[in-house]
Amino acid sequence: MANKNRRPNNKFAKLSLNNKTFKLPIYNSTQGESVIDISKLHSQAKIFTYDPGFTSTASCESKITFIDGDKGILRYRGYDIEELAIKSDFIEVVNLLIYGDLPNKEQLIKYKKLISRHTLLHEQIINFFQGFRRDAHPMAMMVGVMGALSSFYQDSLDINDPHQRQEATRRIIAKSSTIGAMAYKYSIGQAFVSPKNNLSFSENFLHMCFSNTAEEYKISPILAKAMDTILILHADHEQNASTSTVRLAGSSGANPFACIAAGVSSLWGPAHGGANQAALEMLEEIGSSKNIKKYLSKAKDVNDPFRLMGFGHRVYKNYDPRAKILKKICKKVLNHVGIKNDPILKLAIDLEKIALKEKYFIEKKLYPNVDFYSGIILRAIGFPPEMFTVIFAIARTAGWTAQWTEMSEDPIQKIGRPRQLYTGNKSLKYGLKRSKKNTR
Ligand code: CMC
Repeated sequence: MANKNRRPNNKFAKLSLNNKTFKLPIYNSTQGESVIDISKLHSQAKIFTYDPGFTSTASCESKITFIDGDKGILRYRGYDIEELAIKSDFIEVVNLLIYGDLPNKEQLIKYKKLISRHTLLHEQIINFFQGFRRDAHPMAMMVGVMGALSSFYQDSLDINDPHQRQEATRRIIAKSSTIGAMAYKYSIGQAFVSPKNNLSFSENFLHMCFSNTAEEYKISPILAKAMDTILILHADHEQNASTSTVRLAGSSGANPFACIAAGVSSLWGPAHGGANQAALEMLEEIGSSKNIKKYLSKAKDVNDPFRLMGFGHRVYKNYDPRAKILKKICKKVLNHVGIKNDPILKLAIDLEKIALKEKYFIEKKLYPNVDFYSGIILRAIGFPPEMFTVIFAIARTAGWTAQWTEMSEDPIQKIGRPRQLYTGNKSLKYGLKRSKKNTR
């Protein structure tokens, strides 16, 4: 656990302002960029820093995930994502993210049991589902039901009790897959399928989605492995928008289910986890390789809001290592389900090839990200595009809970409260000034 004096250092940055010099401590990371500590800047210099979108701001100290965006490296707790994707399974990765080390065989068996005994949901949640419209987006149901868990599991809401924190974490991870599968079943008008705890996490999710009351789904080991790899690749990604949302919500002392519901909301946006659905829909809209140039022109046009979905990343200025792994899996999964020469995969590969030769994408360092190929695999497994972000959310419960746990144990943690550059009116007298047109 961290302690308050954890950063002995003798390196400083100097800021000269109004004939005064302020010394700002510099802390070294174990790998990657150092940080300048500006936490005392306002109290000493009466000035804020300004960084919309946090492009140059580290919001916390973390030991969980490391990204080198220039080299295209992603590591969980020091382990390369490429190795974890091949050698590990999702629950082992969850355990690694939350506890910091790979578990031994006995610990892993025990942990898998601990998670799987939480897959069931309170029976009344079934009634809760009946309140949603049948055509609701499954992410809308994820947000609602995740938040509602705080009303059902009131014995794990005390964030100051480490035991309750762990219990809430296990519940969130286990129940997210049941909620995701229920959202899918509800949207297609089928009865919910109960979890089977003798199955692995990924197998169980496929079972809950694709078995029905009349027929048991035969789980293919190839599809289950692909599903598991997708979950591993999406499990954590340091301080992205949804994780920062979870941390910010948690910083006020909100209960864990509410924090994760906030994370699910943030993930839903098309710039973040919603990009997997948007990427597949974009490929379907482009339709054929002969239209690629037209869509690339739109993507490059500053006056056109169109962006190449599944391309570009705040941190990766090189190929996203997750996309590399997914691209390799695509063919295997498509072959397995009998899709030969998938026109969408061909289009995606052509689009990538052409885009990566264009000056615009080269100069801006825009490469395929995790969302570019994942949809092709998920669609081949049998999921509709609306479920793609749900699957991202299920996987990311691992990272969210690991990061939330780390934050809860950090003595330096305080309520997140950014400041602003105020550019509104100065003091006005009420009633003297009225707008003629008060609508936008
Ligand atoms: N298509 C066309 N132009 C792009 C794209 C794109 N996909 N991404 C970035 N750019 C341009 C952008 O217009 C900007 O140009 P300029 O400097 O001339 O204003 C420049 O590249 C930098 O982009 P930015 O939006 O300032 O960069 P950012 O770090 O704020 O945004 C991003 C990162 C992921 C939101 C963005 O690349 C994007 O919108 N990509 C498409 C959506 C997407 O695939 N999102 C999934 C991200 S990976 C999964 C996850 O972690 O959630």
